[in-house]
Amino acid sequence: MTSSTFPLPRIVVVGTGGTIAGAAPTATQTTGYQAGALPVSQLLEAVPGLDTFARIESEPVASIDSKDMSTALWLALAQRIDALLARDDVDGVVVTHGTDTLEETAYFLHLLVKSPKPVVMTAAMRPATAISADGPLNLLQAVRVAGSPAAHGRGVLVVFAGRIHSAREVAKTSTFSIDAFASPETGPLGWIHDAQIEFERRGERLHTVATPFRLGVREADAARAASSASSPGEIQVAPYAIDGALPDVDIVTSYAGVTRIAVDALVASGANGIVVAGTGGGSIHHRLLAGLSDAADQGVAVVRASRVGAGHVLHNGAASDDRLGFVSAGSLSPFKARVLLMVALASGLRGVDELQGAFDTF
Ligand code: SIN
Repeated sequence: MTSSTFPLPRIVVVGTGGTIAGAAPTATQTTGYQAGALPVSQLLEAVPGLDTFARIESEPVASIDSKDMSTALWLALAQRIDALLARDDVDGVVVTHGTDTLEETAYFLHLLVKSPKPVVMTAAMRPATAISADGPLNLLQAVRVAGSPAAHGRGVLVVFAGRIHSAREVAKTSTFSIDAFASPETGPLGWIHDAQIEFERRGERLHTVATPFRLGVREADAARAASSASSPGEIQVAPYAIDGALPDVDIVTSYAGVTRIAVDALVASGANGIVVAGTGGGSIHHRLLAGLSDAADQGVAVVRASRVGAGHVLHNGAASDDRLGFVSAGSLSPFKARVLLMVALASGLRGVDELQGAFDTF
């Protein structure tokens, strides 16, 4: 499938900052630069002939180092992308972003965006001012994927170093390599070389238009959604929209000698949820386990994930999760488990059964 069919697709490139928009004092400097220094319009100028592949509009939404990404900006970004994709003349959106939290933003948008049109995120490991900057080619490839009919209905995609990943599966896996992203458990969805875009498979989990999660749904719509019958086993449609701040959900890690001090502090500060990055398949040090068990007794949603970086955390049912009131994260990393838990709680899902249903579905 090529993106050179006529008329050219109209793609809006939304800038949020990151190394792809980074600037250093000299071209030989690839560390110690300022992320998010350049406007998104300048990034487009660095891609030769971009207007022969798509009709491009650009729009800055933020200029940040993505380590400083906030949930408020996630909400604003999702709202803006929905508005852009609602335009009949817009075929897709590309989001330029820092690499550090890209996978979190991508999964948030994957759950919330309400359009089957392509949303493609990209980034770079070298600043825009560096020799052999990787941003321009990543941006070109992201635009070409966003303009491809083959990218429709696949949820939010991440295009990086010639590979196309699903937002649910992708992770940053190297602190310095130019090939910094992978989908550790599944492999990429596909790849792009110049005009050739190949998808090898589909992600099976529900996303975008197929999730019940909504931003700012008007009350009348929410009431209609809440009263609509759901079939057995189906996740209940969220009875209200996410129209304010997301709930407080934090991550704690299990390791040799860990205490329960962090968990107790989070509970005392009013945390709504805690994700634990357990050892191995989601095992938890007995001291941390005692703290988390008490947290669950006090109504805090507790999700068991793994710090390993690949593989699954299985729901161990009666053996302990059900008794302790824990949810298991399946194949989601602790960072993505946190995103889903925030969205699920903000949408009104409560209790182990409803929350586990969300983790088994999205
Ligand atoms: C950032 O995440 O904004 C800085 C690092 C990067 O983009 O590689």
